[in-house]
Amino acid sequence: MCGIVGYIGYREAFPIVIKGLQRLEYRGYDSAGIALFDGNQINLAKTKGKVEDLKNKAKEISQKGTIGIGHTRWATHGVPNDVNSHPHYSNSGELVIIHNGIIENYEAIKQELTKRGYIFHSDTDTEVLINLIEEVQKTEDVKLGKAVQIALNQVVGAYAIAVFDKKKPDEIVVAKLGSPLAIGIGEGEFFIASDASPFIEFTNNAVYLEDEEMAIIRLGKEIKLRKIKDDSVAYPRILELQMNLEEIEKGGYDHFMLKEIYEQPRAIKDTYRGRLLADQGIIRMAGIDLNMEKFLNANRIIIVACGTSWHAGLVAEYIFEDLARIPVEVEYASEFRYRNPVITDKDVLIAISQSGETADTLAAIKLAKEKGAFVFGVCNVVGSSIARESDAGAYTHAGPEIGVASTKAFTTQITVLTLMALKLAKAKGVFSESRYHEYLTELETIPSKVEKALESNTLIEIIADVYKDSTNCLYLGRGYNFPVALEGALKLKEISYIHAEGYPAAEMKHGPIALIDEHMPVFVIATKKGHYEKVVSNIQEIKSRKGKIIAIVTEGDEQVRDLADHVIEVPETLESLTPLLTTIPLQLLSYHIAVMRNCNVDQPRNLAKSVTVE
Ligand code: F6R
Repeated sequence: MCGIVGYIGYREAFPIVIKGLQRLEYRGYDSAGIALFDGNQINLAKTKGKVEDLKNKAKEISQKGTIGIGHTRWATHGVPNDVNSHPHYSNSGELVIIHNGIIENYEAIKQELTKRGYIFHSDTDTEVLINLIEEVQKTEDVKLGKAVQIALNQVVGAYAIAVFDKKKPDEIVVAKLGSPLAIGIGEGEFFIASDASPFIEFTNNAVYLEDEEMAIIRLGKEIKLRKIKDDSVAYPRILELQMNLEEIEKGGYDHFMLKEIYEQPRAIKDTYRGRLLADQGIIRMAGIDLNMEKFLNANRIIIVACGTSWHAGLVAEYIFEDLARIPVEVEYASEFRYRNPVITDKDVLIAISQSGETADTLAAIKLAKEKGAFVFGVCNVVGSSIARESDAGAYTHAGPEIGVASTKAFTTQITVLTLMALKLAKAKGVFSESRYHEYLTELETIPSKVEKALESNTLIEIIADVYKDSTNCLYLGRGYNFPVALEGALKLKEISYIHAEGYPAAEMKHGPIALIDEHMPVFVIATKKGHYEKVVSNIQEIKSRKGKIIAIVTEGDEQVRDLADHVIEVPETLESLTPLLTTIPLQLLSYHIAVMRNCNVDQPRNLAKSVTVE
């Protein structure tokens, strides 16, 4: 995820673009760049780091000009460094582009362009796209808008782009598919941005491009909208913005946490985009392909992580053992590093971390490497310390997670780990073709099923109101959903400050059952697949002790509905994929309870997003 900003009008573009980038920094902040046209030439500055660093870097160039584009980056292709930062020039130096998204077939296009003499300076997919546009312009002898349209019909992926051509200095061409793009319309000026926050103080009128639309923004003219596929004219729908600045930065949500909960369908899709090719029966993960022997010859997999990432690791233990038949141990990184563990060069260590900076997880990696183990990192933040320290890895591509309580990091970690387990199961030959295909196809349905699970939000708000004043809560689940119970309890305690514990449901009778009375809410995950009948028995035990039961059930369930005080339905899926759905209502419950208790949801007391001290 990245932020893009552009301006064309009569004011100086530099301060507008820089301020806009600062407002979009929540979308990514590993590097930033700006390109300005001073009437004669394009002046470009870009750097690894934040927009603040860019302001310093930009002192080296002329800041003059009433046309400018800027970018704040969340790296996907190519590590965060100065060269990979946007904007990117075409080979002639006449075109510049900023891009938010991923061009999946960029390798093939790059090879073709290389054959035609193009030279690439960065590792990015974006530099490939701008050179493709230039090549189309040259070979087809067309104007910029047409060249952009032809080029975009050749790419597969997601994009919000803004392109400027030095030869046509009165226009900027923008296009969108998958990534957001808004155009602010002022008097004699236009603004371009990933959301409206960069231009809200200049205009309330905005056009939000739809997917597969492009616009030619020309000074002194009306915006021209076109469909990318067939070049037909589309009509700009000008909206009057009602939102204040803060709301817009959170995409209209009250809190980043809620926004991130709602981003999960998109985030999960981004995680498997380009990796999961269900119709071809392929999972593409270079980090596994290149190291397949390490995984196949491993005595065991050791997973190390902290907090929510550790819970994702516990889900992965079930997945790897169940699907790929590889023995797995899951360890708190903080315990592992200090308990003199037995590690050999036949072990594979998987480190899971959203931030990629957690000190204990980093130290566990270093220890495992010293002892000869092969280390595979599963991180969200591109170029983070854990990603760099690992021998190989896979990014989750969830986009920046700003709310301190992890939500989309958890589900995207499980998605990556599921892809890994399926790939290994296939390579080991422990899966029949039909079972493998069933998993691949089902995984592709998960984003829409998460969307369905999110539809229970209003019901969950009502349930949250009933239990918001509780002082203790229990969370129970079995099998794949035992770690979800732990995660549900963690979410509640960290943002609402209510004491909560997660247990495997059957463990209840070994102690926690003593806590149950009419004041104790018990959240039970009781989906149809797995150990359903056994969980139903556990629910009976709670009911006979007058505990309040809030059950997460499979759509259409009748049996638990008769027993529980409240039920929240999630769509049916394969057992190993249920955590991706059952976790959604528990996130929403914690969120609403915390809001009702007036807690600081996004920045809970005593916590930090990235725990870089042990
Ligand atoms: C809980 C939470 C923390 C993190 C933990 C690990 O909502 O956010 O428990 O999961 O601090 O952080 P990462 O994944 O960045 O290593």
